[in-house]
Amino acid sequence: MNTKVTVIGAGNVGATTAQRIVEKELADVVLVDCVKGIPQGKALDLVEASPIEKHDAHLKGVNSYEDTEGSDVIIVTAGIPRKPGMRRIDLLHTNAGIMKEVTKEAARFSPDAVLIVVSNPLDVMCHVALEASGFPRNRVIGMAGVLDSARFRSFVATELDVSVENTQAFVLGRHGNHMIPVPRYSTVSGIPITELLPPDRIEAIVERTRNGGAEIVEFLKTGSAYYAPASAAVEMAEAVIKNKKKILPCSVYLQKEYGINNVFVGVPVKLGSNGVEDIIEIQLTPEEQDLLEKSARSVLDLLQELGT
Ligand code: NAI
Ligand code: 2OP
Repeated sequence: MNTKVTVIGAGNVGATTAQRIVEKELADVVLVDCVKGIPQGKALDLVEASPIEKHDAHLKGVNSYEDTEGSDVIIVTAGIPRKPGMRRIDLLHTNAGIMKEVTKEAARFSPDAVLIVVSNPLDVMCHVALEASGFPRNRVIGMAGVLDSARFRSFVATELDVSVENTQAFVLGRHGNHMIPVPRYSTVSGIPITELLPPDRIEAIVERTRNGGAEIVEFLKTGSAYYAPASAAVEMAEAVIKNKKKILPCSVYLQKEYGINNVFVGVPVKLGSNGVEDIIEIQLTPEEQDLLEKSARSVLDLLQELGT
């Protein structure tokens, strides 16, 4: 392949992300993890699947960063995931230390890459990655809204018994309980769901989406979701690699957009080969604006707790 993606963290999300990238033949993948043997073993296993899956993308598993040199996209999934009873913020200090270390190293070898952050607590980890990498804000992007929208869309499709392909969803704000699904911009074949579902059913779907991560953690017990998170990270990487100019909800560093300054929070953006090519500012109701500002403030509170 002409394109190279580094995936940091060869755990559940990282390995699944690597798998989806090579199976779509989007890029060659370097899979990095601090545990010896894990990235090597998983990369080899995926290479051995390639004749059956019919792809010619190359994979390499490593414990250091030399082989990541010249990557076009870096996806950071390194960190610890949630276990039952843990909140995303319980991961704050541990994952901030990991994020700082890995983005510094990765950025040193791939100074022109677009960085996609997955590790939690997401919006705060984006801030750590922005500072540690020294990248401009258009090249540090957090994955959350694509996952939250996909969850919302799958629940709407099930509720209405329609194809998921007909659904669109619109989600703003910080990943987690502060996320703000916007039903009036969420549609089925262009029809707002507010015309198709009664308010109580919409509210139930909104609530389930907000708790989407926790619902999976409760089932799995030993970790958090990874199939849908990997799909979401790969949709973003694909938009960058193919310069698709796709409008997707992502966590980005706002500088006065939506009246919010110097904080990462989820809003609709245009993704292309330069990373974030535009931040789409839509008209919010006063209530939605208030929720978005609360969401941003909660990210700032976590940053303060972290001491950055
Ligand atoms: P996992 O535990 O399966 O994998 C994490 C991997 O990171 C492990 O293999 C571990 O060895 C590695 N790692 C830890 N420190 C490292 C370091 N310094 N350098 C390189 N590798 C290192 O966890 P999973 O399920 O893959 O989740 C990863 C992260 O993604 C978690 O923080 C989780 O909360 C987050 N996540 C975020 C989502 C989102 O919507 N933004 C969705 C799903 C997960
Ligand atoms: C999720 O939403 C845990 O953030 C992760 O599944």
